Amino acid sequence: MEVYGRSKDMAQASKMQRERKKRWKNASPVPDVEDPIKELSKGLHLKNFQLIITDIKEVTKTTKTYRLKLAPDSELKRLPLFRAGQYLSVKVNIDGVKVTRPYSISSAPSDVLGDGFYELTIKIKDDGFLSLELFEKWKTGSIISVSGPHGNMYFDDLRDLNEIVGIAGGSGITPFRSIIHEIATQKLDLKLTVLYGSRYEDDIIFAEELSNLAGKLPDKIKVVNICSEPSENWSGPSGFITAELIKKYAGPIEGKTFFICGPQAMYEFLEKEIQSLNIPNRRIRRELYGQPDNITMNPKYLVEFKDKTFNITVRIGNKIETIKASATESVLVSLERAGIVVDSQCRSGECGFCRSLLISGNIFINDEIDGRRAGDKKFGFFHPCSSYPLSDLEIKIPSFKFVKFSPIK
Ligand code: FES
Repeated sequence: MEVYGRSKDMAQASKMQRERKKRWKNASPVPDVEDPIKELSKGLHLKNFQLIITDIKEVTKTTKTYRLKLAPDSELKRLPLFRAGQYLSVKVNIDGVKVTRPYSISSAPSDVLGDGFYELTIKIKDDGFLSLELFEKWKTGSIISVSGPHGNMYFDDLRDLNEIVGIAGGSGITPFRSIIHEIATQKLDLKLTVLYGSRYEDDIIFAEELSNLAGKLPDKIKVVNICSEPSENWSGPSGFITAELIKKYAGPIEGKTFFICGPQAMYEFLEKEIQSLNIPNRRIRRELYGQPDNITMNPKYLVEFKDKTFNITVRIGNKIETIKASATESVLVSLERAGIVVDSQCRSGECGFCRSLLISGNIFINDEIDGRRAGDKKFGFFHPCSSYPLSDLEIKIPSFKFVKFSPIK
């Protein structure tokens, strides 16, 4: 049969297409071409990845360092790079309750190169149920889900002066250990003085290691250990980290940037001391410390609400659910307790990952860590990790994202 005009062209085109398909089917396979840009961006932007614990060291009676490498079946080919001072957001599933916690990376950025690793140094807090679980259940070979690295407490020469005064308390020494190692290997050209507060001598984390590194580079690194309840053998400074001690060991505040990392109580105490030194705010970087252990200690918290329980009506996509919430727990914790997963990283009001909409009701927002943008405030968005219910609430949270939480075992 003869085919004319347009129909003839179409028949010709489909014949060519059939031939192309045949050629494609019979083509010999070629080796996969590596795309370095794609690989790099995968490494930098993967939301969630798995690590394996390869080593555990007891650093003090209440502190352990976990060495983590890429899990054998990880999608990543190498560990994401980071800057000394950043943290990983660890995601764990404890008996069905999915929680995330930020932990500073205590190893140096150069340790991730080659067959690299991260180290997380975790201290058991007296009432920290997660750290206690991790302490008991994480073993060599355990698989851990994380995201990151995240965080802003790192040295940036466009922003910071290259003389840093670090103020650390408890496990807040961990980001400084990373910075000190980077200075010691001459990958970071900085002068750093760390004032490190611990309760007892036995609590001082990395005492010998950091003092050895400081001894090798006395012009670059100084670490001053301060004990608040020392034994009679203690010859170093004692008490809390005051303005007077800061001036004594760090010298004049001019020409220096201050990095602070420690427990909530230390921030509360330091605030007055810092004010008395008149350090401009632009020269202070505070590491986020996660949620406060006890929000009622915040002087602005309305204590008359502390024993109350409220209902939160939660909208997620086209679903709706009502949960119970205590006035002294952040909205994020109440959601997690009810088994509702909201993606979170900093848990300190800053990163915006848990950003949600407040449809109705009243909340207390911890203004020390209120990282909402002006537009969010205007249109009723809030961060559940830094907000506490003061009435029944109706909220809309982002739809579930695929986040893998590793069971603790
Ligand atoms: S988790 Fe970062 S703002 Fe809530």
